[in-house]
Amino acid sequence: GWDAEKVFNSSVFGFTYDDVIMMPGHIDFGIDEVDLSTNVTKNIMIKTPILSSPMDTVTESNMAISVALMGGLGVIHNNNTVEEQVAEVRKVKRFENGFIMDPFCLAPDSTITDIDKIKEKFGYSSVPITENGQIGSKLVGIVTSRDIDFIKDRSLKLSQVMTRDCIIGYEPITLNEANKILRESKKGKLPIVNEDHELVALISRNDLKKNRDYPTASKDANKQLLVAAATSTKPKDAERAKALIEAGVDVIVIDSSQGSSTFQVDLIKRIKADFPDVDIIGGNVITARQAKVLIDAGCDGLRIGMGSGSICTTQEVCAVGRAQATAVYQVAKYAREYGVPCIADGGIQNSGHIMKALALGASGVMVGSLFAGTEEAPGNYYFQNGVRVKTYRGMGSLEAMEKAQGAMTHGSQGRYFAEDAKVRVAQGVSGAVVDKGSVKTLIPYVIQGVKHGMQDMGNHTVTELHNGLYSGHTRMDIRSGAAQREGGVHDLLSYEKRLFS
Ligand code: XMP
Repeated sequence: GWDAEKVFNSSVFGFTYDDVIMMPGHIDFGIDEVDLSTNVTKNIMIKTPILSSPMDTVTESNMAISVALMGGLGVIHNNNTVEEQVAEVRKVKRFENGFIMDPFCLAPDSTITDIDKIKEKFGYSSVPITENGQIGSKLVGIVTSRDIDFIKDRSLKLSQVMTRDCIIGYEPITLNEANKILRESKKGKLPIVNEDHELVALISRNDLKKNRDYPTASKDANKQLLVAAATSTKPKDAERAKALIEAGVDVIVIDSSQGSSTFQVDLIKRIKADFPDVDIIGGNVITARQAKVLIDAGCDGLRIGMGSGSICTTQEVCAVGRAQATAVYQVAKYAREYGVPCIADGGIQNSGHIMKALALGASGVMVGSLFAGTEEAPGNYYFQNGVRVKTYRGMGSLEAMEKAQGAMTHGSQGRYFAEDAKVRVAQGVSGAVVDKGSVKTLIPYVIQGVKHGMQDMGNHTVTELHNGLYSGHTRMDIRSGAAQREGGVHDLLSYEKRLFS
């Protein structure tokens, strides 16, 4: 095989993950000795090198919580109002393992039929009742199946049937304390309220029973889950960044398809001037020249990729972009000199691609389509030709940009400098992806694949992998089209692609 310099600097071609294949090293350790801990910014280290993309069909609080529990980092999208985005960040920061932060609530004026509908659609039959029917409002009671099982008139108001003197947990409360209350009271659900008696969470006995530990969870010094959130490059998004930081966000990700702009440089400097301790990931970049602009501006991490995402049409529409393996290698090599970690964003279809991104200098990957279609992704499942799917759309798709306009926030249009455009041109598409179950099952499977790759290459850690890359120890080939076909499944009439067991 060849070292990376030879592969990426001796021809005029841009290569992507499938073009490259890594050479094996020597194995003298077990797979459990592989440690994928990595820095996603200068100051933030996580144990699973995966970030979920700030897209409105990928990352809201549910996704960010599960990804952080599994050791990665979720980036909350900004195709919403500042208040909505801040609320999502708060949910992640307030999350305690086992605490349901956004339970279904109803108001005293709602009827038993409303509970029936929740039960039919989502399977829950215990619903806390708050003054205005929302979380965050004063708790006035709870309705469980025992309150309504035998009532024939389903139009009765909940105020007539609810249990008013319910057992309650008071914030701050640990999972163990809540568990004890549930055990002793023999109740199925425990509402948690704050000092103003406002509902902040719900705990379910069933959940407690199936609760697991998350030893690799990404946490801050206060043991709260880590979360990142995106802003556009608009000057007014300095206010958005401020609100997110005040809500406790750990990393600001400036979301732009072309990172080398005066707008982004100004915004980084402005945020850094007010909040020097908050890490900023700038981007997106695909050349060392672009990277220099953002590193000089003071960013603590870089996001690499332009047009390589599964829903992207930027390369077709604008004729600008770069094949992802080349982009990752060239940018990461430059950024390393300044100690700035790089995230390879877009085009990740499997664990092999993650392995290659890390082997070419990335400190982590960002995924959209890989996590779209999971339980945690925003949106409801529906059926398409008998297959259970969810919508996945590019943030440059007309659908996403229209939502941005409706929300009057310009979140996703800002990514493409399209807010003031008279004619709006899509740089992405909207489509459907199949149901993939939970990211809590998917991530361990994908990560195990990466660990096998690390072991095959003879590397225990990401640092070791990167040292091998830059010392020339890591070797690779470029594969011809025929070699790529050979490397996939071939010559079978049919086969079943099982993802994991
Ligand atoms: P994957 O391949 O993981 O890519 O689905 C996700 C990444 O794609 C970028 N992105 C877009 N790029 N048009 C683009 O050119 C779009 O509409 C679009 N939406 C998202 C983004 O970097 C994301 O993380």
